[in-house]
Order: sequence, then structure tokens, then C-alpha cells
Amino acid sequence: MRKKGFVIAMDGPAGVGKSTIGQWVAKSLGYHFVNTGEMYRALTWKALEKKLDIGDEKRIVALAHEIDWGFHPSSDEVTLKTFVDGEPVSSHIRDERVGASSSQVASYPGVRKFFCKLQRSLGKNGGVVMEGRDITTHVFPDAEFKIYLDASVEERAKRRYHQLKAAGQEANWRKIKEAILKRDLGDLKRKINPLSFAKDAVLIDSTHMSRRAVAQKIIKMVRRRRDRGSK
Ligand code: DC
Repeated sequence: MRKKGFVIAMDGPAGVGKSTIGQWVAKSLGYHFVNTGEMYRALTWKALEKKLDIGDEKRIVALAHEIDWGFHPSSDEVTLKTFVDGEPVSSHIRDERVGASSSQVASYPGVRKFFCKLQRSLGKNGGVVMEGRDITTHVFPDAEFKIYLDASVEERAKRRYHQLKAAGQEANWRKIKEAILKRDLGDLKRKINPLSFAKDAVLIDSTHMSRRAVAQKIIKMVRRRRDRGSK
């Protein structure tokens, strides 16, 4: 048994609510939450800052090794925030230009190998909810809980549209849907560690479920097992 509790691995396509749900689950269980997409985005952001050629695989892999990576709890004490060379990543990693290039960066085997090792060392003692695209299948195939979150592309685009509107930003539903479809395709078709469904994962389709209800379902599953005495 791991020292600090279970590893709860969560995968699923873009915009399905993995981060919000993962944070709620982690908070309720007293676990840490790790968003692995943040690492791929942070590396992409740093490469763009340095004006590197995103197509230069060797240089991008070398950059991943050069950066001094840190993962420290944010003010909520739940989320492990990514630090790049001593600085926490800023909201710029969420920019569309970073998002678009991050799929290419995430397709490099050397980059995936590097982050996979980091992610395993962050989660190996348990007490963690880790989300991404290959956590259930590759990073922690031995996780005590494996969850695959899904929702229709229409529903995911609708949620993103309302998020942007609520933040006072411009939003075009059709464009958002197209961007989501493009990212899905990139994640599904990638040669190395593509987004896929682990046979022993629990599939939760949240198209007609609130994020609260999904989080409650996962928390219940974990508590049931914890109460049975397996920690
Ligand atoms: O979850 P996100 O949209 O912030 O992820 C950013 C990019 O990183 C996206 O292109 C998918 C990729 N990613 C990945 O390949 N593997 C992961 N474990 C997490 C994210």
C-alpha cells in the first residue's frame, strides 16, 4: 500500500471538466491534485518565450531537461502548481497560441518520457488525483482508481462557451467546437501514448450529469474502498 493513500488517475478529452472535478475530489479526500496538461503547456510556453522553433524536436526535448521544474501546493493546499525555473506558471499558459502548439510538443517521445518520469515520482506515494490523457494507461497503469471522463463534443463546447462568456470574453460556439474536435483528433491519433480507454477504467459520461454529481460519484467510490480498510 502507498504511504499517503490511493492514486486516482483520470483521463478524458479536452473540456470535459477533469480539472474542476479532480480538484473537488482531491479536496474532499485531503489529497493533492496534479494537472499534467499544465506541464506540457508550461514547456510550450517557455519554448515560445525563448523563440525556439516548436518543430525542432531535439531542442524542445533538451529544454525540458534544462528547466528547473518545481511542484508546490497553491494557496488552496490542494493543487500542486507547476513552477518553471522558480516561478509559478502564469495564466499565459492557457492562451490559445500555447494550447495550439502544446499538442505538437506533447507528441515528442522524449518530452513524454521526461514528464512521465516526473509524474510518477510526484504520485508514487499516493494521496493524489492526477489528470491528463495517458495517466490511466501509461503513467499509472497500476493506479487504485482509473476514471475515464467523457462528454459529447457539443456539451463540451457549450460549457467552454459559457465559461468564456462568464469571463466577459468573446466566444463563438462553432469555432470552439471545431477547436475541440481538432484537439481530440490530435490526442487520439498521436503515435505515442494517445488518449485511449484503459480496459479496467470506470467510464463516466458526464453529458447529462453536473460536475458536482460526477465528483460525488468518484468520492463515494473511493470512500467505500477506504472504509473497507484498504486505506
Ligand atoms: O489538458 P490540456 O488541454 O491543458 O493539455 C495540454 C496539451 O497537453 C494537450 O495538447 C494534450 C497534452 N497532454 C498530453 O498529451 N498528455 C497529458 N497527460 C496531458 C496533456
